[in-house]
Amino acid sequence: MSAAKLFDMTGQVALVTGASSGLGVRFAQVLAEAGAAVALVARRDDRLEAVRADIEKAGGRAVAIAADVTDRGAMTRAFDAAAQAFGTVTVLVNNAGVVASRRAVEVSEEEWRRVIGTNLDGVFFAAQEAARRMLAAGRGGAIVNIASILGLSVAKGVAPYAVAKAGVIQLTRAMALELASKGIRVNAIAPGWIVTDLNRDYLASEAGAAIRRAIPAGRFGEASDLDGALLLLASDAGRFITGETIVVDGGQVVAMRG
Ligand SMILES: NC(=O)c1ccc[n+]([C@@H]2O[C@H](COP(=O)([O-])OP(=O)(O)OC[C@H]3O[C@@H](n4cnc5c(N)ncnc54)[C@H](OP(=O)(O)O)[C@@H]3O)[C@@H](O)[C@H]2O)c1
Repeated sequence: MSAAKLFDMTGQVALVTGASSGLGVRFAQVLAEAGAAVALVARRDDRLEAVRADIEKAGGRAVAIAADVTDRGAMTRAFDAAAQAFGTVTVLVNNAGVVASRRAVEVSEEEWRRVIGTNLDGVFFAAQEAARRMLAAGRGGAIVNIASILGLSVAKGVAPYAVAKAGVIQLTRAMALELASKGIRVNAIAPGWIVTDLNRDYLASEAGAAIRRAIPAGRFGEASDLDGALLLLASDAGRFITGETIVVDGGQVVAMRG
């Protein structure tokens, strides 16, 4: 088989959380284009429908499933719906996430729980659900968790977010260790600053210009900069890679850590 063929996702069933905007839309499009059938999960079903229509227009297969990652019952039903549409989920992209920017002394209990609940609890329970189903189906699979460089380094005003993302990186390693012998790989991507609706205005500001100067590559990332890491970790091309976190940040972490 040619090496390029290893990236072919034909026959795979991917479930992408947070597929209604930003990076999740791109992840879903890339996996569909590579041949996977894709279950799109997020809360805003009108947006999911639009993403589904775009993927199908481009010749891919997708289903839109509205669910909140903090609601375990809803997520169980989402995995059921994905399985009903396409078969057992073999690739999970755990991408749904929320940000919060407030100094630690000002973070309310509600905000702390919202960020940890979405970005860490939500990631764990979706990964657990996916792994249980892969095990029950007797087949391997790939779980790709979307972390952040803020899980590896810190900045002011992001305590709950940074804690959740550091947890995601360690969760990735812990689950990889337990599941490797079953053919289930668990990896993470730690993006740096990638322009999405989430941060477009902020990155265009004076503060954004200062951040850009700290990125050795001299620019912010764009969603397509993550295509290669995603396909590597989701496909057979990454069949011997597990427990890893791939940093995609234009060199920012290297610059910070020296
Ligand atoms: N952009 C960056 O620079 C960057 C850098 C590092 C890491 N990341 C990570 O990349 C991921 C995607 O970020 P993004 O920039 O694409 O942000 P985004 O455009 O705001 O997308 C976040 C997605 O998560 C979904 N979501 C949020 N809470 C949810 C919940 N409770 N249940 C289900 N879905 C939920 C949102 O959909 P609904 O609102 O429709 O539910 C949306 O689709 C996040 O995990 C983020 O931390 C982003």
